[in-house]
Amino acid sequence: PYHPLIFNPSLLNLQSQIPNQFIWPDKEKPSIDIPELNIPFIDLSSQDTTLEVSRLIAEGCTKHGFFLVVNHGVSESLISDAHRFMECFFDMSLVGKQRAQRKPGESWGYASSFTGRFSTKLPWKETLSFPFSNEISGSRTVQDYFSGTLGHEFKQFGKVYQDYCEAMSSLSLKIMELLGLSLGINNDYFREFFEENDSIMRLNHYPPCQTPDLTLGTGPHCDPSSLTILHQDQVNGLQVFVDNQWQSILPNPKALVVNIGDTFMALSNGIFKSCLHRAVVNKESPRTSMAFFLCPKRDKVVKPPSEILDKTTPRRYPDFTWPMFLEFTQKHYRADVNTLESFS
Ligand code: SIN
Ligand code: FE2
Repeated sequence: PYHPLIFNPSLLNLQSQIPNQFIWPDKEKPSIDIPELNIPFIDLSSQDTTLEVSRLIAEGCTKHGFFLVVNHGVSESLISDAHRFMECFFDMSLVGKQRAQRKPGESWGYASSFTGRFSTKLPWKETLSFPFSNEISGSRTVQDYFSGTLGHEFKQFGKVYQDYCEAMSSLSLKIMELLGLSLGINNDYFREFFEENDSIMRLNHYPPCQTPDLTLGTGPHCDPSSLTILHQDQVNGLQVFVDNQWQSILPNPKALVVNIGDTFMALSNGIFKSCLHRAVVNKESPRTSMAFFLCPKRDKVVKPPSEILDKTTPRRYPDFTWPMFLEFTQKHYRADVNTLESFS
């Protein structure tokens, strides 16, 4: 029940009322006054503070799974190019963007408000999702994706996102090392899941909305992937459900927001949490964010290492591979529980 022309928030905001499909049930409507989340700040350039860093990571990850990283080494100009190109893309005409239209059942492409696994209501946003693989042999590059769907003149866009994804992929390996350290396990264990990865990149554009109290930009969900690295622009919108209430993560241009996804929660046998989060919209300013979802190698069996099992028996989740879990979340998503908890 989806038509991109009818469900395009940028166009709908010009009408006097937003359609019913965008009006969320009362219990999910955004609250007005919400506190700021107490979130660890990890300085990746700090020397000799490994113990302190693992303590901070453990503090954030055992509670809600979110932390910020600064001095992450990703070049500022790459981040600003990625933002600039995202704005160019979303500024194009609908017909132009629809050259990359996501088709039913597909994972990649442009979508203006699709009802995904996140809810039956429509989110107030448009997105462009594409695959990234860092496997050496014969995989398609992000340039190939962009020129193949949008036309040869988009190769340059593709190059920027290829570079951005490569930077995110190597940063996630560094972060994986810290997560391993913090859990007290052998560094190679997690590395093997991710040193080759078929990951996902998503660009989000949230147009302003005349009634932001009725709708959501992204509905409440936990990320099924292993680790998410998010760069948000200067507009507030990201919220995490902690201690029984929604709490904000305020924008910080120098920081990347990292969060644990369901698959890493399984790898840590539930010690590190994958937490419910969402994005709200506002009346005045458009908001953009870029999310890199690190996913494990497709054929690896996700299970925690023995060092963790010594500390946390019994095992909380069954063996699975990433494609198996992804298929499960697409069929059985629920906004009120973590999908992993109902997976067996
Ligand atoms: C998401 O979690 O999918 C989006 C988060 C954001 O836009 O801040
Ligand atoms: Fe998310």
